[in-house]
Amino acid sequence: MRTSDAVIAVQHLRKSFGSVEAVKDVSFEVGPGQVLGLLGPNGAGKTTTINMVSTLLKIDGGEATVGGFDVRTQPEVVRQLIGVAGQSAAVDEKLTARENLELFGRLYKIPRGKRSARIEELIKQLDLGAFADRPASTYSGGERRRLDVVAALVADPPAVFLDEPTTGLDPRSRSELWGTVRSLASNGVAIVLSTQYLEEADRLADEILVIDRGEIVAQGTPETLKQDLERDVLEIQVGDRNGFERARELLGPDANPATDAETLRIDIPVHGGADRSLALLRQLQDGGVSISNFQLRQPTLDDVFLALTGPSSMEAEEITT
Ligand SMILES: Nc1ncnc2c1ncn2[C@@H]1O[C@H](COP(=O)(O)OP(=O)(O)OP(=O)(O)O)[C@@H](O)[C@H]1O
Ligand SMILES: [Mg+2]
Repeated sequence: MRTSDAVIAVQHLRKSFGSVEAVKDVSFEVGPGQVLGLLGPNGAGKTTTINMVSTLLKIDGGEATVGGFDVRTQPEVVRQLIGVAGQSAAVDEKLTARENLELFGRLYKIPRGKRSARIEELIKQLDLGAFADRPASTYSGGERRRLDVVAALVADPPAVFLDEPTTGLDPRSRSELWGTVRSLASNGVAIVLSTQYLEEADRLADEILVIDRGEIVAQGTPETLKQDLERDVLEIQVGDRNGFERARELLGPDANPATDAETLRIDIPVHGGADRSLALLRQLQDGGVSISNFQLRQPTLDDVFLALTGPSSMEAEEITT
């Protein structure tokens, strides 16, 4: 998309905490009605990215604007344009959901008449009714998360940041939240949504940024990414230690296997489905490896990351931890 259309624009964002480079070089743009999915495992840099763009954290390098306003030099203006549902909720424990939302509404200077209608609408939409009049300190994880999201939406901001909004939600709450995100987008809101779930990014995002250790490791529409990532995984259980080492030798690094020496398991990403799997199994058997079990399965997010970052980075991690 053209820069002029972007509600949220981020260029070469960087952030370090001491020696940890939490965000290395992250750039993206989100237009009105678009959902950008920030997909990554624990520690990838999702929250750090969101916190910088939403003015909660100082930017070390690069630029970020919301509605054309510089996050660094005009944070007060930016704050009026955004809603943030984060992992550390800005919710007052002693107050009920309704009272918390009232407070947010007042903070954002929404006229009293409009305020209660908007709050009731959101309470209904995200199904907060059952607990809306109990103090937030009594909420379950999922209830709290829903309140957090609603609080971000009270002021009808043109840009919304949702940091792992569905982590810990049951399937029904999750699909309700997905509905909310879709309806926000169809109303023209620009949304950045972080998630650890491939499926969630796939269902909601117009564009996905896969990040790992502060770096973008893949980027594209769900369709293009899936073409790259959706390979099956051949899971092989080797019978003994010698066979395991032999299998590693036979496969070589090109097969990009994930190996676990404790459990003698080898996971190999395969493109050609059954044909390729059979060929690999035959190759191992002919090489004298005893295989006690195997299965072909759909990839998990772990497989995706392994495919993207390669085994060398896994080994590097093993050495440093
Ligand atoms: N205040 C901080 N001080 C030191 N290190 C930090 C701080 N905040 C984040 N980090 C480190 O920066 C990296 C990125 O963290 P971040 O919270 O952005 O990850 P994340 O993608 O949101 O992960 P999660 O899915 O677990 O929420 C991690 O290595 C983390 O330990
Ligand atoms: Mg996080």
